[in-house]
Amino acid sequence: MDEIKTATISKINEYKDQEVFLKGWLYNKRHSGKLLFLILRDGTGFIQCVLFKKDVEEALWEEILHLPQESAFVIKGMVREDSRAPYCGYEVGIKDVQIIHKVTEEYPLGLKEHGPEFLMDNRHLWLRTPSQHSIMRIRHEIIRAIRQFFDERDFILVDAPVLTPTACEGTTSLFEVNYFDDKAYLTQSGQLYMEAAAMALGKVYCFGPAFRAEKSKTRRHLTEFWMIEPEIAYFGLEDNMQLQEEMIVHIVQSVLKNCLNELKELNRDLSKLERITLPFPRMSYDEAVEILKKNGSEIQWGGDFGAPDETILTKDMEKPLFVHRFPVVCKAFYMKPDPDRPDVTLGVDMLAPEGYGEIIGGGQRIDDYDLLLQRLEEHKLPREPFEWYLDLRKYGSVPHGGFGLGIERCVAWICGIEHVRETIPFARTIYRLTP
Ligand code: 4AD
Ligand code: MG
Repeated sequence: MDEIKTATISKINEYKDQEVFLKGWLYNKRHSGKLLFLILRDGTGFIQCVLFKKDVEEALWEEILHLPQESAFVIKGMVREDSRAPYCGYEVGIKDVQIIHKVTEEYPLGLKEHGPEFLMDNRHLWLRTPSQHSIMRIRHEIIRAIRQFFDERDFILVDAPVLTPTACEGTTSLFEVNYFDDKAYLTQSGQLYMEAAAMALGKVYCFGPAFRAEKSKTRRHLTEFWMIEPEIAYFGLEDNMQLQEEMIVHIVQSVLKNCLNELKELNRDLSKLERITLPFPRMSYDEAVEILKKNGSEIQWGGDFGAPDETILTKDMEKPLFVHRFPVVCKAFYMKPDPDRPDVTLGVDMLAPEGYGEIIGGGQRIDDYDLLLQRLEEHKLPREPFEWYLDLRKYGSVPHGGFGLGIERCVAWICGIEHVRETIPFARTIYRLTP
């Protein structure tokens, strides 16, 4: 007879009617007379395993009957297809059980309702539940799909530094760290370095953590988040929007294809994701402000959108919305002005539907040396640490641009989750540095 293999739940269909080992933890159990239903999780999924009292020795039966939640165990059993079985449509008939670690203390996250703060305090354990497990798998799929998207288009991955000498997105949200006898800042964005890399390699992207010391308590803000930032030489605003929409469609299609079980576990309305097709609507900032004023917003021309503004703009939209040509006054120092209208920039944000707000920020960068120098002064940024950045405008300066997609906001939207704190394994917010 063939040697018995260790199966994984995500690929259990490959082991139909075969005897396998499953290695995992006890998520839940139910008992009915001489039958015991164990829900085993193995990291790849959850599956129901059925044990008959007669199939094991009395002592082992008693031990399993009282086995506490999250105890670790290995089973040997027969895989059966059963469309009524919970979680995955398969069930395992247990032949033998080996207990690896018996939990002796009460498990803090017993199977009842818990408040969000308690769950976040126990994030290291909360990750074990079906909903969090699904979010982490979808996050993984989103990141995989993004890298595939750029790799297939011949972009080069260039890692940006985390310790930086300057601000990129405004001096009010910098995290300062001691750097020997000097100080450094945790990066707010890899963009400036990607501009240098694009001039060297043409089409590049970075994927890394970004830090913002923002005292924002909203459901969209983290102090540490992950961002994908492509940057391309010889690239205009319309090129930029096309790349963004193609990337988002690719991400959504990949998740729909590879994470259906996870989306269902989260009760995500699939029809909303299926409607994310090319092209996405485009609107100028001026038009957006008109719409907002008609809908009772307090916004004045020149102001940045608040979360309620973003909700008004997207409430009737099925697809993400591009808002382009933001005023110079509300955007970062590097934003290139529109040659036809120098009071607005060639910057563009993408707002996700269903009230998720801005998920992408990007646009054209200033490619003129003198204007960039002038902007550094206007923004009271020191010249010396930006000399290298100014160099890019001295030696072969070309029109270029790119964007940054915040992974957590993208995961929140695709999963249909209220708060970004659930979309990153270990969230950092103004009130939280643990676990
Ligand atoms: O709009 P932002 O600040 O743009 C930049 O950083 C550019 N340098 C990117 C570029 O052009 N290469 O940030 C980009 C995105 C936002 O749209 C949002 O999705 C996410 O990063 N983001 C945050 N996500 C979670 N918490 C925060 N505090 C975030 N700040 C920005
Ligand atoms: Mg932004």
